Amino acid sequence: MAFAIVATMLIRMVGEYLFSQKVREEQRMTEDLAAGFVSVLGDRDAGALYAQVLEAAEQSDSRVIVLDTQGVAQADSLSQANGQRLALQEVAHVLRGGASTYGFYDLRSSSSTFLRSLSFSARGDALMGVYTAPIPVEGRLAGVVLYLSDAREVFDNLTRMQLRMTVWLVLVALAVLTMSVLVTRLFTRPIEELSAGIARMTNGDLSSRVTVRGHNEYSQLAEAFNMMCQRLERLDQTRNQFVSNASHELKTPLSTMKVLIQTLQYQDVYDPEMQAEFLGDIDAEIDRLNAIVGDLLTLVNIDSGRQELKPELLRLDELIDETAYRLRPLAEKRGIHMDVVVKDRIETMADARKLSQVFYNLMDNAVKYTPDGGFVRAEVGRNGRMARVTVSDSGIGIPKADLIHVFDRFYRVDKARARTTGGTGLGLSIVKQFILMHEGTVDVDSEENVGSTFTVELPIINLTA
Ligand SMILES: Nc1ncnc2c1ncn2[C@@H]1O[C@H](COP(=O)(O)OP(=O)(O)OP(=O)(O)O)[C@@H](O)[C@H]1O
Ligand SMILES: [Mg+2]
Repeated sequence: MAFAIVATMLIRMVGEYLFSQKVREEQRMTEDLAAGFVSVLGDRDAGALYAQVLEAAEQSDSRVIVLDTQGVAQADSLSQANGQRLALQEVAHVLRGGASTYGFYDLRSSSSTFLRSLSFSARGDALMGVYTAPIPVEGRLAGVVLYLSDAREVFDNLTRMQLRMTVWLVLVALAVLTMSVLVTRLFTRPIEELSAGIARMTNGDLSSRVTVRGHNEYSQLAEAFNMMCQRLERLDQTRNQFVSNASHELKTPLSTMKVLIQTLQYQDVYDPEMQAEFLGDIDAEIDRLNAIVGDLLTLVNIDSGRQELKPELLRLDELIDETAYRLRPLAEKRGIHMDVVVKDRIETMADARKLSQVFYNLMDNAVKYTPDGGFVRAEVGRNGRMARVTVSDSGIGIPKADLIHVFDRFYRVDKARARTTGGTGLGLSIVKQFILMHEGTVDVDSEENVGSTFTVELPIINLTA
């Protein structure tokens, strides 16, 4: 819209400028003609005057008439107006002593035969330009030059030029418009692709990725988006895996219990001994279920950041002694010797419940994966600024290939054996998480059929020291 207004104004301005240029040119020419007539008019040579008028008209392709001081035509290039008094206001202006002037007459709208008779053009539609200039001889007005031109052609040329300009401006406008549409598309396309990707993701398609070519901010954004998708997808997969593993782990004791209860239900003869045994088994399964659910809850709480560290000042060696004490009956039942070696007494700020579970899990594993008659040894000592606890055993060991996985959730080296020992594969992942919360480290070293050593290092935080 604004463009249209500016364009119209521009076209009009250019038109007016060119037109006034043309007018000025013709006016100057009329004045030049007037200057040329000075000498012939002074000589009063009618023949020479006519010849000069004719020549001037031919040269400028117009009609030239020289009038005397009464406004009567003395020499007309078309020889029609000779002797006539031409009462034009432009003539009168000069006769009154005015300077050169001009005017335009549209012959189409004028019914004046007089004006028509002046037109030199054969075309009736002529727009007649009338220019007059005084011819001064020795300081006095001796006559008037009347120069009649066909302005229609000038007008037509102007209109044509204006039309051409309009066409050009429209073309430029169209080009600018297409360009701007293209450029906007160029900028909005990547955004559209991104939002489409986000929409797909919102609808649950986490495998969705967006492709944005180039090396600009958009492609960086797309890359970041894809990275986020990838992480979310992986998170989603781990979560699904976790839920599926957890359900599987819960299913096993449940189906065992179901079988036990069904056997009891459809027992033909009442056998109190068998009933007691089965009930004992069911009780054990419930314990196991309880343990699994407890572990799962712990892990879920860690994941959601709900597990907070509640540090208190504690004695690490005493904590380990207590844990060993709880496990000793189990170990002794299987002839496993359990040892706690305190190299240094260590006092530190730590979460007693969490560390207690850490060492319980480690020692429980050591007992569980050691054949009858073996040994389990826990050592507490100082290693620089860290407290170091090692739990070693003379057990079955862990194959090299499995070492890096034992801290993974639900990971068990020997699935079949774990079934009988009742492991879920969650113990060590909890150990790892709790130790990380304490900003410590946990490592494992093991040799198959020789034994394993788990090493925990914890920073000693002692406010009193
Ligand atoms: N001291 C050890 N000696 C040999 N193998 C071990 C030892 N500790 C752990 N493992 C192996 O690592 C696996 C993972 O141990 P983790 O404590 O996480 O699970 P679990 O003992 O099987 O089950 P639970 O969740 O009941 O602890 C075990 O299944 C076992 O195969
Ligand atoms: Mg365990």
